[in-house]
Amino acid sequence: MALMSFQPPKGTDDILAPESQLWRRILKLWEEMSARYGYPLMLLPVFESTELFARGVGETTDVVTKQMYSFPDKSGRSLSLRPEGTAGAVRAYLNRGGQAVFKGAYSGPMFRYEQPQAGRRRQFYQVGVEYMGVSSSEADIEVIELGWRFVAAAGVDAELRLNNLGDAECRPGYLADLRAYLNERRTELPDSMASMIDANPLRILDSGPEAVAASAPRFEDYWCRPCRDHHDAVLAALDSLGIPYISDHTLVRGLDYYTRTAWEYIGLGLKGAQNAVGGGGRYDDLAETLGGKPAPGLGFALGVDRIAAVSTLDPDPEIEVFVVSETGPKEALHAASRLRGEGVGVDFDAEARSVKAQLRTAGRRGVPHLMIVRGDDIVEVRSGGERRQMPLREVASWIRGSS
Ligand code: HAM
Repeated sequence: MALMSFQPPKGTDDILAPESQLWRRILKLWEEMSARYGYPLMLLPVFESTELFARGVGETTDVVTKQMYSFPDKSGRSLSLRPEGTAGAVRAYLNRGGQAVFKGAYSGPMFRYEQPQAGRRRQFYQVGVEYMGVSSSEADIEVIELGWRFVAAAGVDAELRLNNLGDAECRPGYLADLRAYLNERRTELPDSMASMIDANPLRILDSGPEAVAASAPRFEDYWCRPCRDHHDAVLAALDSLGIPYISDHTLVRGLDYYTRTAWEYIGLGLKGAQNAVGGGGRYDDLAETLGGKPAPGLGFALGVDRIAAVSTLDPDPEIEVFVVSETGPKEALHAASRLRGEGVGVDFDAEARSVKAQLRTAGRRGVPHLMIVRGDDIVEVRSGGERRQMPLREVASWIRGSS
C-alpha cells in the first residue's frame, strides 16, 4: 500500500507542544480577560446555513464569493464552515428572542479558502466578543479597550487604527461620490477592480493603488450629525482613557455589515497585508439584514495564529514538577499520583529508563522543579541551583510557596 501523506491539509497547521504551550497561555488569558469585562462564554456551531453568511457577511465580499467552504449535507441543505463568528452570534441572539442586552465571548477555528501564506491560513483561530442591544459610544470604548488590553497582555506590540464608516443615513451620499471619483480614475485601477466600483467601492480604498485612495473623498466630509457625534465621543473617550489611536480614513473592513466605528489592531512585528492581529466594529443594521428585529451591535475578533507569531510571552508548560525515580516507574507513578491529587502539575517517565535518560526528558520539558524519589519517604526537590530533602507530603505546599 502506498504511504499516505502525513501533512495536514493545505493551509492548516498541527499546533503541538512547545508551540501550543504559548497558545495555552494566550487562550487562558483570553478566558480570564473576556470574563473580567462581563462577556459570558458562547459556544456556537462551527457550520451554519450558507444563507446566513451570504446575507450577513455580504454577497459581494471576497469571503462569501471566493472563500467559503460550502457543501450540501445529506438532506441537500447548503451549509458552510463558518468563515467568521459574528453572523452566527447575531443569529443565536435573534434565536433567543433578541433580549435587550446581550454579551458573549467566543474562541475557536474559522475557515476561509484563501491562498495560504504566513499569517493567512485556511483554518485559523479567532477569539472575539459580540455585544448586542447597545448603541452608545461607551459600548464601543469597552469593546475597543478589551481588545487593546488583551493584545498588549498577550505580548504583542500593536497600534489601533480607527475609522467611522457612516450609517444608512449618510453612507449612500458618500458612496455615490466615491463611485464617481473612482470612475474618473478608472484607468489607474487594475482590471480586476473595475467591477468593484459598483459592487464594493469601499474595498478599493484599502486594496487599490495608494495614490487613488489618498485623494478619494473622505467619509468625514459626509457624516451625518449622529455619526459625527458618535465618532467625536469615541475619540474623546479614547483620549481620556489614554488609549493611543491613529485615525485612518482609508480603513475599511472586508465584511459588509459594518456601520459607524470600525477599527483594526495592527501588529507592529507583522509584515505586509497580513499585519492585522484583529479588527472589529459596529454593525447596527445586521440583525435587521438577517430578518430579525432591529438591534444595534458591535464586536471584534483577533487572530490567535498571528498573535502567537509575534507574542513575547513565555510558553505555559502544563507541569511544574518532573519526577525522576531511582527505583523504577512504579514509585514515580505513586509520587506523581499523590502530588496530582494535591493540585500540582506533574509528569514522569513511565518506561524503566536510566536516571540520566529521565533527567534528559525533564530538561526537554522545561519544568521548573525536579523531584528525585529513592524508595523512601524523603525525596529531593531541585529548583534552579537549589537542592532540598523533604518528606513527600510537604512537597506540594513547598512548591506552592516557591512559585
Ligand atoms: P476579520 O478582520 O475578517 O474580522 O478577522 C479578524 C482577524 O482574524 C484578522 O485581523 C486576522 O488576525 C484573523 N484572520 C482573518 N483571516 C485569517 C486567515 N485567513 N488566516 C489567519 N488569520 C486570519 C472578522 O472576522 C469579524 N467577524 C470581526 C468582528 C467581530 N467584527 C465585529 N465583531
